Amino acid sequence: MPLLVPPDSVSTDRCTIRRYRLGDGPELARATTASFAHLEPWLPWAQPRQTVEEAVVLVRQFVGRWLLAQDFVLGIWSPDGATLWGGCGFHLRHGPAQDGVAEIGMWIAAEQAGQGLGTHVLQALVEWGFSEWPWLRLVWKCDERNLASRRTAEKAGLQLEGITRGDDIAVDGTRRNTAWYAVLKP
Ligand SMILES: CC(C)(COP(=O)(O)OP(=O)(O)OC[C@H]1O[C@@H](n2cnc3c(N)ncnc32)[C@H](O)[C@@H]1OP(=O)(O)O)[C@@H](O)C(=O)NCCC(=O)NCCS
Repeated sequence: MPLLVPPDSVSTDRCTIRRYRLGDGPELARATTASFAHLEPWLPWAQPRQTVEEAVVLVRQFVGRWLLAQDFVLGIWSPDGATLWGGCGFHLRHGPAQDGVAEIGMWIAAEQAGQGLGTHVLQALVEWGFSEWPWLRLVWKCDERNLASRRTAEKAGLQLEGITRGDDIAVDGTRRNTAWYAVLKP
């Protein structure tokens, strides 16, 4: 089976979405640490302080998995390319890339949140995913109580397919319900 060799980046009028490069570690550490309070309720990986060393290792993993077509993690950058405004990705959590199903994940840095960026990026990922990527179905899932995430999915045109009960563990350790959204290639 040939490895998927996807496009590296897409730019919109508001940001650039691109795969991570060696050297992105310090900016990743800065952005996630500055956003800890905003991310912590919903993302199990958020830490009060991510060190540069930890972020450098993470970036190496992102790059490695990208090259092996195992996972496609992307950064959301300011137009001048200097500041990481968030992260997103096409994740293979529902089968191999050849099956055409990817799950989109996303976080937006605290200082950028609530200004329409998440909706904008999700719309851009859907458009990009159905044009330059081979995706046929894009999935978005979140804790049922994550209203910002749910609203972002709805505003970007994804459809609620259902809510599964007690199927995952929330960040606080309790069982949670999961809201599943998806969009199909037109
Ligand atoms: C979810 C997230 C990606 C959305 O990005 P964003 O840039 O903040 O979203 P937008 O500004 O595009 O807002 C989208 C909608 O959500 C609404 N919203 C934002 N925060 C909200 C909140 N706390 N409660 C309810 N609605 C909220 C906005 O008002 C907007 O809807 P509206 O235009 O009808 O008013 C971002 O808030 C985030 O990183 N959250 C923490 C991590 C996370 O939960 N990631 C998703 C995991 S599935």
